[in-house]
Amino acid sequence: MKLTDDQKDLLNGKYGEGAAIAMKIQIAIGESFEAERMVPITRAHVALSNQDADLWFAEKLLNAGAKCRVTPTVNPGFCLSYFKEKGLVLEEDYKMMRRTEEAYKGLGAQLTYNCTPYIDTNVPNFGEIIAFSESSATPYANAVWGARTNREGANSALCAAITGYVPEYGLLFDENRKGNILVEVKADMKNDYCYHMLGMCGKKIGHGIPVFTGLPKHISKEALRNLGAQLNTSGAYDMYHILGVTPEAPDLETAFGNKEAQRKVIITNDDFEDVLKEISLEGNRKIDFVMFGCPHFTLDEVKYIADKIKDKKLKKDMYILTSSYIRDMAIRMGLNDIIEKAGGSIIPDTCPDQPCWHHLKGKIGVTESPKCAYYPQRRGIYFVIRDLDTCIEAALTGEVK
Ligand code: F3S
Repeated sequence: MKLTDDQKDLLNGKYGEGAAIAMKIQIAIGESFEAERMVPITRAHVALSNQDADLWFAEKLLNAGAKCRVTPTVNPGFCLSYFKEKGLVLEEDYKMMRRTEEAYKGLGAQLTYNCTPYIDTNVPNFGEIIAFSESSATPYANAVWGARTNREGANSALCAAITGYVPEYGLLFDENRKGNILVEVKADMKNDYCYHMLGMCGKKIGHGIPVFTGLPKHISKEALRNLGAQLNTSGAYDMYHILGVTPEAPDLETAFGNKEAQRKVIITNDDFEDVLKEISLEGNRKIDFVMFGCPHFTLDEVKYIADKIKDKKLKKDMYILTSSYIRDMAIRMGLNDIIEKAGGSIIPDTCPDQPCWHHLKGKIGVTESPKCAYYPQRRGIYFVIRDLDTCIEAALTGEVK
């Protein structure tokens, strides 16, 4: 691979051993994809997981003196102050989260602990070359904003933040961003929840870059977030197009690069029903709790819930996961008061796939997000999946239809 003087200096240790390790890893990645050079990035998002392997890697780089040249935003772990105050944190989990905090602080990351940076805190411009990890972040950045990132892992995104470069391959090139699967949506797309279901059709859509047709002209940011998150729960997608909506798909010819689609897929309401049967516990049962915010909820969603439960009393705990920024706004706007008075909680910085939820082991929750239902299964927590209104109703009555 051809390297510039600065890139050679990074590799040869002029900026310390940590930066040299990061560069070495990135060159190896680049060579495996036959990249010819490294190109500068202007943004990064690191999907830290607050788990052993991730922490081992971050601490290794930190101890070798690495510092981020491009300040990355980071994914959630869990909110130490909230769970500690409730007496829900085991000593070993407390230590792990503290170490994660220290490692990423030392590396110079922006401690956002939020998995939807593309909505408010780290929004790229069209054509900007960036390094984003996190399953909903990569497709949103590529498809919705028209920025350019490969589907980085937490580790490669951290290396990119440290060196300020990525190897040039894959979605950084025009020709690799074109669609090759035509997905005709005939299902009723009546609310944001339907985009969760559409994203969960990854098995039927198959491997490649889908071009969706038949979707409304105006699609909410929440719906687009849901689509990307679930495409990467049911499959592996770093890019998609929506005809007449996303910027690189003004018409079919442009979206497909003047080529024929390799596959055509039709998605109907029956597909949504089949998917739901496969991923959700059956309804018509009592539930123990309600969880929203995987990916993290927006202020509009928090407000929607507050309006629905104002002056009511929840029968079951309701956890709304979001960023500390959105929680602060909810406090300022009085939404947090409404939700807490009803018996719910807005929890910042937290992901359902974290050890702080051990008190829910063996319990059954309800959520509108398949991703929320998917990961906690390994911790013995299971979910019924329903649309947002049905979930809110379940919190009020204690039962889900
Ligand atoms: Fe975000 Fe964790 Fe869900 S990172 S998308 S809240 S699994």
